[in-house]
Amino acid sequence: NKVVLAYSGGLDTSAIIPWLKENYGCEVVAFAADVGQGDEELEGLHDKAIASGASECHIVDLKEEFVKDYIYPTIKTGAVYEGEYLLGTSMARPVIAKAQVEVARKVGADALSHGCTGKGNDQVRFESTFSALAPELTVIAPWREWDMVSREDLLDYLAQRDIPTSASATKIYSRDANAWHISHEGGELEDPWQEPSKQVWTMTVAPEDAPDEPQRVTLSFDKGELTHVNDEALSPYQALVTLNKLAAAHGVGRIDIVENRLVGMKSRGCYETPGGTVLMKAYKALETMVLDKAALKYREQIGLEFSHVMYDGRWFTALNDALLAGADAFAQKVTGDIVVKLYKGTATVTQRRSPNSLYSEDFATFGADDVYDQKHAEGFIRLFSLSSRIAALKDQQK
Ligand code: ARG
Ligand code: SIN
Repeated sequence: NKVVLAYSGGLDTSAIIPWLKENYGCEVVAFAADVGQGDEELEGLHDKAIASGASECHIVDLKEEFVKDYIYPTIKTGAVYEGEYLLGTSMARPVIAKAQVEVARKVGADALSHGCTGKGNDQVRFESTFSALAPELTVIAPWREWDMVSREDLLDYLAQRDIPTSASATKIYSRDANAWHISHEGGELEDPWQEPSKQVWTMTVAPEDAPDEPQRVTLSFDKGELTHVNDEALSPYQALVTLNKLAAAHGVGRIDIVENRLVGMKSRGCYETPGGTVLMKAYKALETMVLDKAALKYREQIGLEFSHVMYDGRWFTALNDALLAGADAFAQKVTGDIVVKLYKGTATVTQRRSPNSLYSEDFATFGADDVYDQKHAEGFIRLFSLSSRIAALKDQQK
């Protein structure tokens, strides 16, 4: 039998390869996804996997698919988990797990494995995708089975087997990076009263060190999808790379939060989502031009519901399909341009225009116009507040 392991080249998944072979007597096929985490993580990965005992290593480029088919739909819902988190890790899990299942089918594997701990969200996200796409495959989660608990344990385990590793006993933070964001957990961050030290942040400059001159960036959308940055046509992934570069240089997109994990505990994390922060702001600013009050309210409800669906790893579900279809219907109106000013950690929308704009200077003006007769407001308010009037009159009669 054969197992396909979601492999990162880190210490945990390096130890999982020999562990699976010894404990399950199986062949291990390593699988790694390129979701834009950067070349440092992917370099030498193939040889490393083989050196750890994998029979094959498949590295699949998911960058464009990730941005186009997971990030863009999420932007259309406007989802922000618990008011702050832009869901960077959550969005990557279904696209990675789906590709892993495809590799398993290709190589004829009968099991899937991952290096997520038994305490977090990621195990749920991976395994929910496995359930939905490949219910016939066995799932092996070594962190829930073995009794190793520390990095020293894992290093000893590899040393006893003469498996080379460049990992060190001290690695302070648990990080997860992709084209959208990087997350940081662990180390001093486990104390919520501790301010993150400078070395936590890796993707953005500190806002206080950012340039004194603001920079403006123009984002152009067509039916809810970003098509141009500063008038240059770019693929979804390239557009995000460009926005990341601009926003990171101005210290945009850092957050430091305590969040509720699906499994019940709270965790503290720092996140850097430079381009994503700008993109989400711009998208929402354009929505305000083209969606009326009732539509925007309902889109916000979709976003709230969807934030939990995405966070909780429920992408491959009927509820998700329905929410995405709803968001996409509203997105058909989201066409136009937004200018965002980047300055010392802030991203401020300063200009907006759309062919679908419902905003009219003629109607909003305090001068005279013909669609809005101020006298009509009297009857409207009278009926709009009629139930309050009836209740008050009733009270007065008591
Ligand atoms: N708490 C975030 C989330 O659940 C980030 C998780 C980071 N994952 C990791 N394997 N380091 O989406
Ligand atoms: C992990 O536990 O593997 C990472 C954190 C998380 O999944 O929430």
